Amino acid sequence: MGMDDRSASVTVCEDGPLLLRGPFTLRTQDGAVVDPGRATVALCRCGRSAIKPFCDGTHKAVGFQAPSAPTGERPLSSED
Ligand code: FES
Repeated sequence: MGMDDRSASVTVCEDGPLLLRGPFTLRTQDGAVVDPGRATVALCRCGRSAIKPFCDGTHKAVGFQAPSAPTGERPLSSED
């Protein structure tokens, strides 16, 4: 866990998913709660999982590449 065990953390995995740990609520865009089925979940960021939003390991098969750390400055005005 992170410095504050009461907060959720997101770990960006190199060439892989986003690992979500801690107290979080996963919701669809319209607000419905999605039961992740476990305390730690991996969310797909390669776009190729068959079980989105969860990672199913396909990122390895498709050779998804992305670093763990940011590759540049995020614009301050960005709201996406
Ligand atoms: S990040 Fe694992 S399947 Fe997309």
